[in-house]
Amino acid sequence: MARITAGVTTSHVPAIGAAIDLGKTGEDYWKPVFAGYEFSKKWIRKQKPDVILLVYNDHACAFDMKIIPTFAIGCAGEFKPSDEGWGPRPVPVVKGYPELGWHIAQSVIQDDFDLTVINEMTVDHGLTIPLSLMFGQPVEWPCRVIPFAVNVVVYPPPSGQRCYNLGKAIRKAIASFDEDLNVQVWGTGGMSHQLQGPRAGLINREFDQRFLDRLRNDADGLARMPHIDYVREAGSEGIELVMWLIMRGALNPDAKEVHRFYHVPASNTAVGHVIYENSD
Ligand code: DHB
Ligand code: FE
Repeated sequence: MARITAGVTTSHVPAIGAAIDLGKTGEDYWKPVFAGYEFSKKWIRKQKPDVILLVYNDHACAFDMKIIPTFAIGCAGEFKPSDEGWGPRPVPVVKGYPELGWHIAQSVIQDDFDLTVINEMTVDHGLTIPLSLMFGQPVEWPCRVIPFAVNVVVYPPPSGQRCYNLGKAIRKAIASFDEDLNVQVWGTGGMSHQLQGPRAGLINREFDQRFLDRLRNDADGLARMPHIDYVREAGSEGIELVMWLIMRGALNPDAKEVHRFYHVPASNTAVGHVIYENSD
């Protein structure tokens, strides 16, 4: 059967992608950011996942105001990069896993979560920067990736509780897939940041540290935190953090944190990154 062996969370700051793509990772500003992923790159080479269910948010590249799916699962065989800002990143095409994608859709929809099945879409920095941070710059991505897009851009985003419960439904779905696969679930975006309005530039280290602690020790309680607390404490784009709860719900409650990294500044965003290994 397929097994969820580990979970990864990481921020997706677009300037990190530009630093990688333009060869600036050794610059003084960027060195401490990339240092936080040295462990992770070695770790994932040993882990060799077959598939990553990658929870991320699109930034008006694949979707726009015409259609706003709350939860969308990519069931295509491949997904080409596209992007705002610096434009499409020069990274490999993402290869999907339609059989597992459709299986997850079937199981999770029958468990009362309404997913939108997407058979054609591009993927932006929300998905490709986490891949670059973990895998570097390979000619091809070393595993399949199922993109799982969450709307955290247009109000109303889903609650943390709904995301956490969805993660549990995803865990059940993957565990019932009849193929021997090493699957990781990633939750991306965050941490505290606000890109607009009078509070643009907001960073809240105390909130972020508390979030990391509670994600590990008190995920049930953290899931109950209302939207307004994310926005007030972590800024308008801090709401991206609800996606981390999908990853957490997909792992066992006693999953072990094997790596934690937190760094400010990176562009306008506090960078957070953790790795959990699942107990058997
Ligand atoms: C920045 C962060 C984001 O999450 C994003 O989607 C765009 C920009 C930033 O820090 O500049
Ligand atoms: Fe973002």
